[in-house]
Amino acid sequence: NRVVLAYSGGLDTSVILKWLQQEYQCEVVTFTADLGQGEELEPARQKARSAGVKEEHIFIDDLREEFVRDYVFPMMRANALYEGLYLLGTSIARPLIAKRQIEIAQQVGADAVAHGATGKGNDQVRFELSYYALQPDIKVIAPWREWDLTSRTRLIEWAEQHQIAVPKDKRGEAPFSTDANMLHTSSEGKVLEDPWEEVPDYVYSRTVNPEDAPDQPEYITIDFEKGDGVALNGVGVSPATLLSSLNDLGCKHGIGRLDLVENRFVGMKSRGMYETPGGTIYALAHRGIEQLTLDRGAAHLKDELMPRYAELIYNGFWFSPEREMLQAAIDHSQEKVSGTVRLKLYKGSCIVVGRKSPHSLYSEKVVTFEDDAGAYDQRDAAGFIKLNALRLRLLGRRDR
Ligand code: ARG
Ligand code: SIN
Repeated sequence: NRVVLAYSGGLDTSVILKWLQQEYQCEVVTFTADLGQGEELEPARQKARSAGVKEEHIFIDDLREEFVRDYVFPMMRANALYEGLYLLGTSIARPLIAKRQIEIAQQVGADAVAHGATGKGNDQVRFELSYYALQPDIKVIAPWREWDLTSRTRLIEWAEQHQIAVPKDKRGEAPFSTDANMLHTSSEGKVLEDPWEEVPDYVYSRTVNPEDAPDQPEYITIDFEKGDGVALNGVGVSPATLLSSLNDLGCKHGIGRLDLVENRFVGMKSRGMYETPGGTIYALAHRGIEQLTLDRGAAHLKDELMPRYAELIYNGFWFSPEREMLQAAIDHSQEKVSGTVRLKLYKGSCIVVGRKSPHSLYSEKVVTFEDDAGAYDQRDAAGFIKLNALRLRLLGRRDR
């Protein structure tokens, strides 16, 4: 029997790799996804090798373009935010990792898959709902729910006993729990577990402190085509290149930091810190181009559907009929969402300062405070207001 492990090369999954070999006596196939986490992936290969994984069973795949094009951009078309603030950086990566893991399992003839998410969080749900949707009879191994390593402290002891390297953070302690990809980096646990304590500076890894950001603002433009970003400062770029350039800009100007207490799907609240530099800029820019090109009815319906859509992604239902139905509606709305947005980046803030589009619904002629030369008849408004007021007046007569 064979198992495909979602393997980052980090501490947890290195322990899991050895534990699967010992406990299940099974052949472990490792899969490491390059989602633009900005880490060297060759060390993962080395570690898998030295743990005895066969060369043809070490998979390291560059999924960056697919991640941004087929997951991040579709989600951004919806302006998805969980609980009003979270750009879903971890949530949106899980279905892609799971999909590739299942493909590899089919390719190497494995009947099981394994992941390193704990039994307390969202990630286990996201991985496993995706596995089961894509291969209904797959066997799932979730070591955190099975073994007796009941804490990070015991995990580290086990690692030391089994000659597995334990990384230290900048302060010489075992690290807090992080997850990173091209869209965001998240940190949870340890010093962050007290929601009253401000996140210490050393936890931030991919944005400069806004207080230390340049004193000069920087202006950029993003071009959109049917709801997706296609160019930065007039230069056409691929989805992953666009997001990665926006990450550099966001980092430099200290954009996209978030300190959040959120509701996990399993029922508990957790406190996390997120850095989403490029995604924060991109999400604002997308809103900017929709302001000009989306009809009010379509825009407001999108905003009603959005929390539902965001919750589906947060809860792990990417591969579900209801997410696909919402996606179809959202994608349909983006037909004319094309044009250019100009943004100003300055010390942690990102402001849309200009937008233009060949499909703009904005009419200066109609809206102007100056003479509109008959484009709009102000007398029409009197009847409009009077009929809207009719029920309020009937109520007022009865009740006031
Ligand atoms: N709370 C966030 C979410 O549920 C981030 C989870 C981070 N995962 C991790 N392994 N640290 O999407
Ligand atoms: C984990 O439990 O592995 C990380 C946190 C989460 O999935 O919510």
